Amino acid sequence: MAKKEKITSSIIQNSKDLGELGRAVKSQKLTALTAYDYPLARILDECGIDIILVGDSVGNVMLGYRNTLPVTMTEMIIHTQAVSRAVERALIVADLPFGSYQSDPRLAVSNAADLIKAGAEAVKLEGAEHLEAVKKIIKAGIPVMGHVGFTPQSVNRIGARVQGRGKREEVKIFTDAKKLEKAGCFAVVLELMPPELAEKITKTLKIPTIGIGAGPHCDGQVLVTYDMLGLYPNPPKFVKRYVDLSSQIKTAVNKFKADSLR
Ligand code: KIV
Repeated sequence: MAKKEKITSSIIQNSKDLGELGRAVKSQKLTALTAYDYPLARILDECGIDIILVGDSVGNVMLGYRNTLPVTMTEMIIHTQAVSRAVERALIVADLPFGSYQSDPRLAVSNAADLIKAGAEAVKLEGAEHLEAVKKIIKAGIPVMGHVGFTPQSVNRIGARVQGRGKREEVKIFTDAKKLEKAGCFAVVLELMPPELAEKITKTLKIPTIGIGAGPHCDGQVLVTYDMLGLYPNPPKFVKRYVDLSSQIKTAVNKFKADSLR
């Protein structure tokens, strides 16, 4: 059972060895879901989800963009503020959006600091190409979560497909995950890769891995909440839909309509 006290990045980092979350070490798995707004963040927190990610997936699933690339710092700040007003227990991680950390490590620190001021307790950024930025953000006192495999901000370069098929890609993803651990990340997201590769990374790293479309062997799982609730029309194939809220909302709206037109 999830304990009530506040989850910190160091609790997450140490959870792999120490069972800090109060669950049996052997069966301990981390849970993470995305939220971008106050009511949903509140529900996830009340359910005892360990990590609430204010993902830049807000761009696709809430704002209707084609991908995450147009998401701005201003948008991330507004959604992080909303989530932080709701959450008491979970660790709040906010994504650094495309363009906010790639060009200059000092800009990366400044943008990460703005997300912390908005209520995030850690930031996430994609890939291992910007290790200087990762190190400087951590040096500034801000915990960083890494993200390897399919990194949506690089969709124009790598394509929207499973990553890590074939030796060259497999070695790159494995090496990138190790580089991020060495740079000081407290956890790393493994997205859209063969389960065997995710398992190998999970067994090698001391920090926890959080998988999305990466099989069952990661230390934790994350999903985009709007996908698993059936609120987003085009979820990725690997997503399990736990409820079809779109249909339920339509039923309720039609009942309201019928009542109002009576
Ligand atoms: O933005 C997001 O929701 C994410 C998850 C897919 C991990 O980065």
